[in-house]
Amino acid sequence: MSLPKIVAKQPVILELEAGIYWWCKCGKSQNSAFCDGSHRGTEFAPTQFELAEKQKVALCQCKYTKNPPFCDGTHSQL
Ligand code: FES
Repeated sequence: MSLPKIVAKQPVILELEAGIYWWCKCGKSQNSAFCDGSHRGTEFAPTQFELAEKQKVALCQCKYTKNPPFCDGTHSQL
C-alpha cells in the first residue's frame, strides 16, 4: 500500500463558497488541497465534500487526517 505525500504538516485555511469540492488524498496535486488529477495511475482517489454555505475551512495537507478533508490535528504526531 502506498503512502500519501505529506504536502505540509499544517492545514491550509480557506474561505470557500458553497459547492462541491474534491480534496486531494495523494498529496501530488499542484493545486493546493484540491485534486488536479495527479492521482491517476495510483491507488488513491480524491475525497468529495460539499459545503452548504460559504465558510472558512481548515483542509488537511498532511493527508493523514482521520476526518478528511478537514484537519484533525494528526499532523502534530507526524
Ligand atoms: S494537516 Fe492537520 S491533520 Fe493533516
